[in-house]
Amino acid sequence: MNIITKRIRGMQDVLPQESKEWETVEKIMKEEAELYGFKSIRTPILEHTELFERSVGDTSDVVEKEMYTFNDKGNRSVTLRPEGTAGVLRAVLENGLHNNPLPLKLMYVSSCYRYEKPQSGRYREFFQFGLEIIGASDVLADIQLICTADSILKRLGINSVSLEINSIGCPCCRKKFNEALKNYFEIHSSKLCQTCKDRLYRNPMRIFDCKNPECGEICKGAPVILDYICEKCSSHFEKLKTLLKSVKINYKINPEIVRGLDYYSKTVFEFVCNIDGTNLTLCGGGRYDDLSEILGGPSLPAIGFGMGIERILMVMKKQNAFFEKPSSPEIYIAPLGEKAVPKALELCEILRRSSIFAETDIMNRNLKSQMKYADKINSRYTLVLGDEEIQSGKAKIKEMKNSKEYEIFLNENFINNFLDIQFKNYNI
Ligand code: HAM
Repeated sequence: MNIITKRIRGMQDVLPQESKEWETVEKIMKEEAELYGFKSIRTPILEHTELFERSVGDTSDVVEKEMYTFNDKGNRSVTLRPEGTAGVLRAVLENGLHNNPLPLKLMYVSSCYRYEKPQSGRYREFFQFGLEIIGASDVLADIQLICTADSILKRLGINSVSLEINSIGCPCCRKKFNEALKNYFEIHSSKLCQTCKDRLYRNPMRIFDCKNPECGEICKGAPVILDYICEKCSSHFEKLKTLLKSVKINYKINPEIVRGLDYYSKTVFEFVCNIDGTNLTLCGGGRYDDLSEILGGPSLPAIGFGMGIERILMVMKKQNAFFEKPSSPEIYIAPLGEKAVPKALELCEILRRSSIFAETDIMNRNLKSQMKYADKINSRYTLVLGDEEIQSGKAKIKEMKNSKEYEIFLNENFINNFLDIQFKNYNI
């Protein structure tokens, strides 16, 4: 077939069968988050570019290389959101949500856009389920957030996922750490790629995000942030570890987690799953205590995470998770002849008003083709409606799997008759 164009590289169509799987996963995520008090928020897909430059950081891979940025017709630079947090915090500040009782607990499902090299589990359009707790500085917020992520993953039946945590300190400890990093990377600067050379003086921590293998090798010997964090950050991290033990969530300290976005401070974490020998981060997040002030708002310490829905589905399928099939009709009403058509439409509406999935012909098919179609779409019952049935006010309903027939009245008793037939058969 010569269609004029294909889908954009790194972007996916979610077809009806998969849509059901997406809906199931999103429903579980939302239900679980609601148990912890999260409420939904929706923000625009487009934001002014400076929002991401200032929050995600202009030396990050996301801002430097991956954003879909363009000028709109008013010649303003706008960007398709590469992540959810910055837009959510902008919306909180702009709408004064922080004047409500704190903390704010917000959840969202957002499409995100990053011009990355597409590969398994990495797309240019992907969907994040995100949670943000805004206005809480205590480590108890970190624990509640991590517990929510943990119970979502458990309810989705995802096994063999491990929680990795780290602390990247506050701007105060990071000053000393950045000095140490500069000293270390300067020694190796001749072997660094051009991007990392630029980052060396602007933001040396971002060198850890480089995907170039040579830079990766150099990173292995670099100073570790945990050796530089101040007393306050260290005590926050110690409390986090103690509380994680008390809620019985296993964790591993991974000093290499620095996250790729600039807004983080103190706690950072990732839930990682090993798939065919490669580690896939299903969920990543951390504290961003200073972001509100960076955006021009008041002090609003916060913590959040983003879960990649495609990756979650990928792992669930690998682990043979059970997904319900898209539903099929309970009944197909096949009209035969002109008089039967409006009656079939009327009966279908009556059924639908009682939340019963009903189908009828909209293709002007003959009876044989209608029955074939009813079989293909897996309708549980069929009802053939011709002149005779309309005249007598009675018809036969056939259960497709065993060809059993039941009489049904086409008057005001129709819906009760149908419910009786359904009920009897469920009881068998
Ligand atoms: P992030 O680690 O960049 O964090 O993304 C969160 C999750 O989104 C990742 O763990 C991964 O599952 C998924 N993800 C990221 N990039 C891709 C991609 N190209 N293709 C498929 N999935 C992807 C954030 O975005 C932060 N906003 C999370 C956060 C919320 N931190 C605080 N609050």
